[in-house]
Amino acid sequence: MAHTLPELPYAKDALAPHISAETLKFHHGKHHAGYVGKLNAALAGTGLEDMALDKLIANIEQVPEDRRAKVFNSGAQHFNHSFYWNSLSPKGGGAPGKNVEEALTAAFGSVDAFKEVFTAESTGHFASGWGWLVKNSAGELKVISTHDADTPIAHGLTPILTVDVWEHAYYIDYRNGRGSYLKAFWNLVNWDFVAANLA
Ligand code: FE2
Repeated sequence: MAHTLPELPYAKDALAPHISAETLKFHHGKHHAGYVGKLNAALAGTGLEDMALDKLIANIEQVPEDRRAKVFNSGAQHFNHSFYWNSLSPKGGGAPGKNVEEALTAAFGSVDAFKEVFTAESTGHFASGWGWLVKNSAGELKVISTHDADTPIAHGLTPILTVDVWEHAYYIDYRNGRGSYLKAFWNLVNWDFVAANLA
């Protein structure tokens, strides 16, 4: 079965004023949809059309070399965007539940300290990419950023939370103000999703 664009888990205007309906219309309907279309086109005829997305990304060497970069970039962007929509919620923001609070405090000292590290890494990331909270194979929580389409699941890391710092994620609402976008992100952060990924 061909890869498909997932529905947004909320209405396009549900994240306003922090992220506008216009941003979501383009970001989901054009950018994310474009990656899904390119992924299906790059996979056509490879025999890998039906492989699960996470398995495909983790086993990218199975893709013929002349298609590999296209499959990786569009597939990883499909994964990253799907993960990003779930990292946001109109009911998000505020304080996390007890389990998340304890995990973040153990790893970073406090929830606020985690937010500072995540914000600094994501705001300071050079050019296009993604900010992440991940869990490594030792079970430790780390904040990282990845360039362009790169994704934690290509490196044996478990994603817990992400923010898209490609300009298309914030340019309509904040122009070049990535810091303002990150500030708004904390009003939308889906702590329930974080809790589920930590469990
Ligand atoms: Fe994006």
